[in-house]
Amino acid sequence: MIILLTGGTGYIGSHTAIAAIAAGHQVVLYDNLSNSHAQVIEKMHTITHQKIPFVQGDVLNTELLYKTLVEYKIDAVIHLAGLKSVKDSSEYPINYYHNNVSGTISLLQAMSRAGVKKLVFSSSATVYGEPQYLPYDENHPTTPINVYGRTKLQIEEVLRDLVDSDSTWRILALRYFNPVGAHASGLIGENPQGIPNNLMPYVAQVAAKELPILHIFGDDYATKDGTGERDYIHVMDLAEGHTAAIDYLINHEGFRCINLGTGSAFSVLDLVKSFEHVLGSKIPYQISPRRHGDLPKYFADASLAHELLNWKAHRSLLDMCHTTWIFKKNSKKGS
Ligand code: NAD
Ligand code: UFG
Repeated sequence: MIILLTGGTGYIGSHTAIAAIAAGHQVVLYDNLSNSHAQVIEKMHTITHQKIPFVQGDVLNTELLYKTLVEYKIDAVIHLAGLKSVKDSSEYPINYYHNNVSGTISLLQAMSRAGVKKLVFSSSATVYGEPQYLPYDENHPTTPINVYGRTKLQIEEVLRDLVDSDSTWRILALRYFNPVGAHASGLIGENPQGIPNNLMPYVAQVAAKELPILHIFGDDYATKDGTGERDYIHVMDLAEGHTAAIDYLINHEGFRCINLGTGSAFSVLDLVKSFEHVLGSKIPYQISPRRHGDLPKYFADASLAHELLNWKAHRSLLDMCHTTWIFKKNSKKGS
């Protein structure tokens, strides 16, 4: 198949493109480079030994999307383009609704006109909100506690309504848990601008001595060691989940939401210990107050993905830390 990846030069998009090529697909990248760099495409060429077409454009540009879909004879779209900062989403809600929700509607209009009706959408575990039970399965109530999560939930609702109105559409919304790690080559990975909000890139910067100390946001939660617990998933496992989703769409109609997680929760201290093991030295940290809006613990029921997609995450927390560190060392050398 020929697959268009919106957000294709981003963290998850670049890894997903590589997994799709490894599975025998052709890919085209579409991105406005608002949160990524064109240099990643060169790295992707090195990894795949292939030239990967890239179109610089915004998903809000329906006309350019339509032309791209037609010109490259696209069969299916993986829609990863979006803004993802929980913090920014509460400061700039209109920006978030416009980019994420209106951007998806623009894509759907272009796809409809071009007759491309297979779509995999990047959703998030944040659609669930306060856990009423754990692990979250796909039937867990969806009451997101931040604007970012509400943009994802609204998009899921648009997608469900679309499939209800026209059964020739085939759409999967993949609810990611906490993607971390990097491609084993260490050539591509997560490279946030400024001070990272998320745990793994922050730990990597402390390990590289770019930041002095890790602040652990709370050690008095009702969790195994008092620190927050999450379902960290290796980005290459997540990427392979997308190719499994594309395979599923070839033979199945309708709309489904599917969790992509490992089904296990690790604490902040588990992750720090794992990283220290890879590093061979200590990560300095201090316990700081809880971060506003953080949930103590959540993780996926990953059984539906196994049942429907025949997919399971298999890479370990150690592998997530190891590849993060290889990428970090490589990008330091390059900078
Ligand atoms: P990322 O920021 O690295 O990648 C997103 C890409 O989309 C960037 O390259 C950015 O330039 C591009 N983009 C943003 N708005 C665009 C627009 N209007 N038009 C064209 N391109 C645009 O983020 P990521 O971590 O790779 O996330 C990819 C998707 O997965 C996002 O939709 C995100 O919400 C979702 N997601 C991410 C996580 C996570 O923890 N990383 C968790 C759950 C869901
Ligand atoms: N944490 C720290 N110190 C830090 C950063 C994080 O102690 O410097 C802790 C947090 O308190 C939390 C855990 O590490 O307990 C994980 O935090 P992250 O920020 O890495 O991840 P979150 O689970 O808070 O959020 C992520 C994405 C969101 C997404 C959500 C659900 O950032 O965009 O997962 O998928 F919505």
